[in-house]
Amino acid sequence: LFGFYAHNQEDFMSAHTIDLRSTSFQTNPYPIYKQLRENSPVHWFPFDDLGRGMWLVTRYQDCARLLKDDQNITKNPALVRPPDPDEVFSSDLLSSDPPDHTRLRSLVNQAFTPKRIRDLEPRIRQLAEELFSSVKDRGEMDFMADFAIPMPIFVIAELLGVPREDRSLFRQWTNDFMRSVDAMSQTEETQKKGQEAGLKLLEYFTHLVQQRRQKPRMDLITGLTQARDGGDRLTEREMLEMCQILLIAGHETTVNLLGNGLLLLLQHTDQLAMLKQGPELMESAIEEMLRFESPIQRATVRFTTAPVEICGKVIDPGQQLSVVIGAANRDPEQFPDPDRFDIARNPNRHLAFGRGIHFCVGAPLARTEAHITFDLLLAEFPRLELVSSEPDWSGNTFLRGLNSLQVRLS
Ligand code: HEM
Repeated sequence: LFGFYAHNQEDFMSAHTIDLRSTSFQTNPYPIYKQLRENSPVHWFPFDDLGRGMWLVTRYQDCARLLKDDQNITKNPALVRPPDPDEVFSSDLLSSDPPDHTRLRSLVNQAFTPKRIRDLEPRIRQLAEELFSSVKDRGEMDFMADFAIPMPIFVIAELLGVPREDRSLFRQWTNDFMRSVDAMSQTEETQKKGQEAGLKLLEYFTHLVQQRRQKPRMDLITGLTQARDGGDRLTEREMLEMCQILLIAGHETTVNLLGNGLLLLLQHTDQLAMLKQGPELMESAIEEMLRFESPIQRATVRFTTAPVEICGKVIDPGQQLSVVIGAANRDPEQFPDPDRFDIARNPNRHLAFGRGIHFCVGAPLARTEAHITFDLLLAEFPRLELVSSEPDWSGNTFLRGLNSLQVRLS
């Protein structure tokens, strides 16, 4: 899914003048994105000296086009390189093309219908209220640890049907997994931990699936086992990977939408005041949070299967492409005054949830969670303020988010 491709690549371009491994890039990637968009919109990023690497694409129009192109681009690594026995994912939504992708996607779409999301709303609200009431009298909270981290894991676990007592296990596993997929700060250690975490999740779901087969319930895992056992529309492996991908794809991403969103509101007090006065702006405010500090900065791995021209450069078949969502979402050709956080921005056709057939299946759920969270937060804590003006960015360049976000509740 997130693997890398080895090839003989001669064009190392200006990789050495733009430092994508620097600490300043990890905390503030936007000046470098601007440089890339302007000077090197298809930029070779080497992983090592063996010619392995990927092409970073940073202009909005190119990114949008590549995300939609399933003729010249594949998501299936097996089409362009030998299978990697250590790869945790091999037959999930994000590593497949039609017709497999269509079959898998139609099954999972059933779990994310507007009705299903509406049915979950009272449970999400109840959890948010519980989390906020437990910090109410404290005077201060770390919004990440006290709210943004526990909330989305609860919601996905609820959807899948993971028992309450097991939910804390997932935090470490998804954390280790996500740290291992940041191509720009990878080490042997992070890769090993990521692989172990993926295997533990697989083991966990194998066990849970067995339980649901014996005792079916009204949850997504039971639904998937029935699809598997009934019409043979899912292999056993596909079913387990579906559970895994929903948990992983839906967790840290939503955590970061909530954390980045609150940080932005508290950094831009004029916008916060506008939102308090005009709560009908909440929807567009959430879209602007997604654009301005996109939780996923680079789309997942894609490979060319035919020559593809981008900004006058022809990329050969078999090469790895990285669509840099975070850069596309700040492209002035698409978004006037892109570095301005404007909660009333309209139109705002950002790429934070991707585009085309792999468009995020959990987008309605993430938007609902954010809506409930910010509604409640503004109502419960009208005088919320940042404790420090220095954001505590995690430094992960793939998933942009905060380690902690200390706020005064007063
Ligand atoms: C703010 C939160 C979220 C963001 C920013 C986000 C972002 C994305 C993006 C950019 C993609 C497309 C990746 C690509 O084309 O390479 C994607 C796909 C996906 N997302 Fe999300 N996501 C979020 C929340 C969720 C949630 C809550 C779930 C599930 C519970 C979820 C499940 C998925 C799945 C399964 C896919 C693969 C879809 C496919 O390949 O057909 N995501 N997401």
